[in-house]
Amino acid sequence: MVDLADIAALSWPRRTERLLLRPISKDDFEALWQIRRLESVGRWMGATSQEFDAFAEFIGNDERMGKTLVIERDGVLIGDLMLAPEDPWAQVEVIDQAKGTQAEIGWCIDPAVEGNGYATEAVRELVRICFEELGFRRLVALCFAANEPSWRLMERLGMRREAHTVKESLHRSGEWMDGLSYALLAEEWVPARP
Ligand SMILES: CC(C)(COP(=O)(O)OP(=O)(O)OC[C@H]1O[C@@H](n2cnc3c(N)ncnc32)[C@H](O)[C@@H]1OP(=O)(O)O)[C@@H](O)C(=O)NCCC(=O)NCCS
Repeated sequence: MVDLADIAALSWPRRTERLLLRPISKDDFEALWQIRRLESVGRWMGATSQEFDAFAEFIGNDERMGKTLVIERDGVLIGDLMLAPEDPWAQVEVIDQAKGTQAEIGWCIDPAVEGNGYATEAVRELVRICFEELGFRRLVALCFAANEPSWRLMERLGMRREAHTVKESLHRSGEWMDGLSYALLAEEWVPARP
């Protein structure tokens, strides 16, 4: 069973070819809010706020911070990742065996640096950590069907589209929107060549 303490206990930070990944700290809130408050970002996120204090309250609890990694390029915060361990559905006799065996992953990149493969690079490393170091058996990712950059990223990472739900999720615009869910099993994951 993997939990937030296991994520915190990993060795941080991690470096990829161009990026650095590390757990969020309170000092990152302002820089992350400057990205999350942008309309083109906030419209797809579960929560957004034009008020810094409200954003800091949303993200500044142990559970949310424990699921959040920031992405830096040359010492500048350019986005964040979510890594949320969860319990898959299981029959009651085996419920303990299923606990903490999968995780939902999520992402956000500053639109100013979109289109450079930074999200792909960061999430690829996150997926590697999930399977090789934390031992999750399955990763899932969810998005509104209209969020094409997000599901294209899932497909670049080799995730499989498993569900297209119809008018199932309520957007803050008032529209009931279609949703997509993608997944990847540990045995399906193909590590990127160095
Ligand atoms: C979803 C999101 C992270 C995708 O960002 P992105 O910039 O498209 O993704 P990447 O950083 O991986 O970049 C991929 C693009 O860079 C290009 N690229 C350039 N150099 C590259 C490289 N070295 N490696 C990979 N791709 C590269 C790719 O061709 C691709 O462009 P394309 O989509 O036109 O084909 C971003 O749109 C975002 O943060 N959106 C707002 C928040 C959000 O929606 N979060 C998800 C909620 S479910």
